[in-house]
Amino acid sequence: MLILGIESSCDETAASVVEDCTKLRSSVIASQAMEHRQYGGVVPELASRRHCENIYAVVKQALKDANVTIEELDGIAVTHTPGLIGALLVGVNFAKGLAFAAGKPLIPVHHITGHIAANYLAHPDLKPPYLCLVVSGGHTMLCEVKSYTEFAILGTTRDDAAGECFDKCARVLGYPYPGGVQIDKAAQQGDSTKYALPRPRVAGSELDCSFSGLKTAVINMVHHAEQKNETIDAPSMAASLQRTVAEILTEKTLLAAKQTGYKTIAMAGGVSANSGLRSSMEAMCKKHGYTLYMPPLSLCGDNAAMIACQGSYNFLAGVRADESLNAYASGTAIGEMVETV
Ligand code: KG4
Ligand code: ZN
Repeated sequence: MLILGIESSCDETAASVVEDCTKLRSSVIASQAMEHRQYGGVVPELASRRHCENIYAVVKQALKDANVTIEELDGIAVTHTPGLIGALLVGVNFAKGLAFAAGKPLIPVHHITGHIAANYLAHPDLKPPYLCLVVSGGHTMLCEVKSYTEFAILGTTRDDAAGECFDKCARVLGYPYPGGVQIDKAAQQGDSTKYALPRPRVAGSELDCSFSGLKTAVINMVHHAEQKNETIDAPSMAASLQRTVAEILTEKTLLAAKQTGYKTIAMAGGVSANSGLRSSMEAMCKKHGYTLYMPPLSLCGDNAAMIACQGSYNFLAGVRADESLNAYASGTAIGEMVETV
């Protein structure tokens, strides 16, 4: 079974071919990150335009690298939610046109489920059910992966995602976009105990989290220091922030594991590349006898291999979209992500 995956939800135009769900035949990513860097973050219209310019060549290259023709494909999978609407529409429309022209099934994929599926590509021994900590630029959630295509959210952020918190704090500390990876790098040189940062608690649900207070605390500390003509030790602030975020997420994951009884835990999303979070989760899982799965760094960020992989499982589960498939910036919950037409 050969599935082509197409991803264009943010600033990466990507295409990939996956065989039998987990065998990676090709993965092409055209990243726009350096272009958006000059503006300090992703400029949505620019992202859409670049997707529009790049998508044809990226898909063509993915088929060429995989040595696969369009006729040989069993289906075309595409990210249709969540993300920047103008960016998503480019991928969705391209996939629709291709599926229509080639007479192939069109398979919608929820971007977050794609991030989770990145683990299957690297660790084919990982099988549902298990607990997954999803940490991306726009989402932070603990979810139960009940099967390859069924998910239940156990806890989520009440406000900002962990990635958003890293990115905004990085910006105020003077690091360029994308900030998360810069915080990670800077943290290696800093003292993680230098700054005491708040650990907000969310009333009502122990598995929910909140990162906006933490983000505001860092921003305020930097601004107050500037007003007093003092300098913030940026690497130590980065290290303190990274340690705090890693501890909060690890603590919540441990709590979810205890409550649900899962002994298999996975991580997914761009922030799962964070070295502080990876080591804190590793230490926690070792201590409690849990098996931990993490995507390799190459599959943590946005890519189309994860979309082709999840698309393959959706395909096997009978998930199809017709020619009316639309893109949605948000509003589609992961637990309701399977669309069967
Ligand atoms: O999953 P992703 O590539 O895109 C979304 O679906 O949102 O996640 C992007 C997020 C950004 O906030 C980026 O700063 C963060 O992942 N990120 C990191 C690291 N690498 C990427 N955050 C912390 N440490 C990293 N090493
Ligand atoms: Zn993503």
